[in-house]
Amino acid sequence: MSCFCTQSLNTKKLLILIPLIFFCSSFCFADDIPTNLQMTREGARVNPVIETHMQSEEHWDRVYETKATESLSWFQEHASRSRHLIQSTGVALSAPIIDVGGGASTLVDDLLADGYSHLTVLDISSAALAAAMKRLGSGRSAKVQWLAANITEVKLPVDTFEVWHDRALFHFLASAQERQSYVQAVLRAVKPGGHVIVATFDEGGPVQCSGLTVVRYSAQGLHAEFGESFALVHHEHEAHTTPFGTVQQFVYCCFRKLVS
Ligand SMILES: C[S@@+](CC[C@H](N)C(=O)[O-])C[C@H]1O[C@@H](n2cnc3c(N)ncnc32)[C@H](O)[C@@H]1O
Repeated sequence: MSCFCTQSLNTKKLLILIPLIFFCSSFCFADDIPTNLQMTREGARVNPVIETHMQSEEHWDRVYETKATESLSWFQEHASRSRHLIQSTGVALSAPIIDVGGGASTLVDDLLADGYSHLTVLDISSAALAAAMKRLGSGRSAKVQWLAANITEVKLPVDTFEVWHDRALFHFLASAQERQSYVQAVLRAVKPGGHVIVATFDEGGPVQCSGLTVVRYSAQGLHAEFGESFALVHHEHEAHTTPFGTVQQFVYCCFRKLVS
């Protein structure tokens, strides 16, 4: 039984999947993940909603398979602001922390170096996760739980995470339905009183990224998406310089999930 689940499998992915299963076998959320995440491409063709998600998975896999991670517009040598905001929550080093849409981010490297010991990285792209695992090497990557899943579909375990972090995933959710599914996932998986750190392009940010249209947010606008179950406790802005020298405006919002 493995925690590493895919929505589709082809020969190339199997080559990635087999070693990842080995690495991940000691961490297991498989019972919490719906069977549609293991659906074949053939099955996906009959369902237009799933087909959209398949395209998304294929899009992101293609990005990570064809470009060096250091050349991607969102690349950060160190995710310093995210790391600082996570440290500022004051959670214990043993606290469960998830980086949603973590891709090949170096955040996990730095959190491991800080001593955080209960880290999960979730991304729709198994290629992105494979790149992060390769960078970390087998010793360090085995300390992390890796989940290949679409955040708008996955059923994460209930009341589990003390910190939820997302830099630059949420703004790709184009439909209200996708955003609601995302917020439902946060409500389900974050402990009452837990910390939710979400960074998106702010109102002055780009309108597209990775060839996809994005939705830009003010802190208040992002809070409105999350709703009254969350308190907005802090927000800050960042001007991110891309590897090719352009500047992108981000807003980082720190929420607390209110105890219901
Ligand atoms: C712009 S990248 C940011 C990656 C990383 N957070 C960082 O800061 O370097 C967006 C990431 O979100 C992932 N992603 C996009 N849609 C997703 C979804 N519905 N579920 C899970 N991951 C998704 C992509 O594969 C990609 O790795």
